[in-house]
Amino acid sequence: MALFGKKRTAAARESVDRTRLPQHVAVILDGNGRWARRRGLPRTAGHVAGAENFRTIATLCKNMGIKNFTVFAFSTENWKRPTEEVAAIMKLLVQYLQESIEKMEKDHIRLHFWGDLTPLSDELKALCATTDRISEGYDGMNVNVCLNYGGRDEIMYAARAFAQECLDAGRVPDKMEPAMLERHLYSAGVPDPDLIIRPSGEERISNFLLWQSAYAEYYFTDVMWPDFDEEELLRAFVAYQQRARRFGGIDETEKDG
Ligand code: FPP
Repeated sequence: MALFGKKRTAAARESVDRTRLPQHVAVILDGNGRWARRRGLPRTAGHVAGAENFRTIATLCKNMGIKNFTVFAFSTENWKRPTEEVAAIMKLLVQYLQESIEKMEKDHIRLHFWGDLTPLSDELKALCATTDRISEGYDGMNVNVCLNYGGRDEIMYAARAFAQECLDAGRVPDKMEPAMLERHLYSAGVPDPDLIIRPSGEERISNFLLWQSAYAEYYFTDVMWPDFDEEELLRAFVAYQQRARRFGGIDETEKDG
């Protein structure tokens, strides 16, 4: 990195208030394909760079003390992509999990998977089960990898589970409270995301954390995910810290009288 770039990153570090960081950061990994195409590379090279960058950004978040980091790695709709591309993404996930299992003891990272894992390969399912099991004893940053995940599916599964609970226990559905549904979401027990980052210039939710994002702050940037570096992350945190989060209420200063 040029000296100028290093100075800029150092300045960006200074501009973030470490006492007001988001507790839960979520990212839609987007722009891998375009990043590769612009370099005359196959799309899969973009996913390799994207997976590598995920490790870098997750480590930065961990070192800054972020408690929860959630990433949209593969959606319920991503199966529509060419077979070779899906296979390449699955291979990267296998590699990532194999490496993570080796490193988890040192980092104390808790790795969880949100999504319907049924259609994944036996190898990937076994790795997910192993990381889930190892994670139980750790108390470090929570990393949630959304795999074959769709927000609508998640809410539907939770509604079904709740309906079944009502049938089994003779409960009345109109006594339902949000917390009763939340218990059946993949995210049960994890605070809602404070900040959702979407790189690559797209400004859509794309079926990501539909329930949990009710009061999330969104940060969009034109930078492609493999180029989303520390400076970009700090810029997202500064933008987040400049937002007034009211959760449907109003600021004290805005009150009448
Ligand atoms: C979106 O970019 C990216 C994906 C659909 C796959 C992302 C998954 C990985 C990088 C695999 C490894 C993940 C982890 C967490 C280790 P895109 O292909 O839609 O980009 P484009 O919009 O430019 O085409």
